[in-house]
Amino acid sequence: MAQAPTINPLLTPYKMGNFNLCHRVVLAPLARMRFYGNIPQPHAILYYSQRTSKGGFLIAEATGVSDTALGYPNASGIWTKEQVEAWKPIVDAVHAKGGVFFCQLWHAGRVSNQDFQPNGQAPISSTDKPLTVEGLDGAHFTPPRRLTTDEIAQIANDFRIAAKNAIEAGFDGIEIHGAHGYLIDQFMKDGVNDRIDQCGGSLENRCRFALEVVEAVANEIGADKVGIRLSPFADYMESEDSNPKALGLYMAESLNKYGILYCHMVEPRMKTVGEKSESPHSLLPMRKAFRGTFLVAGGYEREDGNNAIAENHADLVVYGRLFLANPDLPKRFKLNAPLNKYNRETFYISDPVVGYTDYPFLEDNS
Ligand SMILES: Cc1cc2nc3c(=O)[nH]c(=O)nc-3n(C[C@H](O)[C@H](O)[C@H](O)COP(=O)(O)O)c2cc1C
Repeated sequence: MAQAPTINPLLTPYKMGNFNLCHRVVLAPLARMRFYGNIPQPHAILYYSQRTSKGGFLIAEATGVSDTALGYPNASGIWTKEQVEAWKPIVDAVHAKGGVFFCQLWHAGRVSNQDFQPNGQAPISSTDKPLTVEGLDGAHFTPPRRLTTDEIAQIANDFRIAAKNAIEAGFDGIEIHGAHGYLIDQFMKDGVNDRIDQCGGSLENRCRFALEVVEAVANEIGADKVGIRLSPFADYMESEDSNPKALGLYMAESLNKYGILYCHMVEPRMKTVGEKSESPHSLLPMRKAFRGTFLVAGGYEREDGNNAIAENHADLVVYGRLFLANPDLPKRFKLNAPLNKYNRETFYISDPVVGYTDYPFLEDNS
């Protein structure tokens, strides 16, 4: 039984640049590993459309920008014509229900394995330091090859082409995946980046690649269609910085120069992707520094999401696991209704239905 509705700042409208959003409950980018052969699949039409509401904002799963970008089986991609075509009916379904849909553009960098790389080559990174952790299901990571200075511009160009492809597929914009220990994060964090060229050393140098990607993508599709996700405080995939606050602030301020639509930051309490822990830090300084729309993510529930909006700590709140398990999450928040529990066991299985499109809607529970 739904409880009496209460005041819900999360359910108030918000104008994000040219997009008129009807509420502030955003679908987080969630890799689901159900894109066989890295081709978007028809079952994603139902998955994304289930999670669409009129004027809702959705961010698609991490989507590889090139054939060196992937780190997991059955991950999404958008560098071939076939992938672009396969995304189209998925994007159309979200638009048919009035959603605003951005594609998250991703390069895994060293969080990969030679089996996912063309010709079995080593994954590329800012460094040649290998990861010492294991991946999902004990997957091991191949020691990376350090990119040469000349090669770095080519990777930024891959992001540019992927952004163009995303617009061709019908997406309303793109989010650059600069979080969670993947390639862009591997450049930004001093715990990984050990370069001695113009992309290593000082904070400014370490952020150069991220900002080159921002610039390339914004020039291609327009800054009003570009967001970026950052997790300065996380140490996921052994990607840690000695001064995350300075890193977050430098990026927030630098992004202003490009006038991009939004900055999406992961809360300091999320050192990893899935575990909440106490943190003395906050995103408030970055929120204040960045002049566009500010999105926050990581461990949010209904009440603290409402508080974040009410206290003006964020414009939009991004929900991962709760949205994964509750396709009608905004409605449930509106009614203060009980939530389905998520099942970790089915997060990354390749089944086209189980743990994907079979979470019940509110009315199905009664
Ligand atoms: C199954 C799963 C897949 C994820 N895939 C991505 C991804 O593709 N890109 C990304 O930036 N974060 C990814 N994340 C992190 C989420 O976007 C989110 O930041 C995280 O789950 C914490 O938010 P939550 O507490 O609301 O779930 C993933 C998380 C989960 C559980």
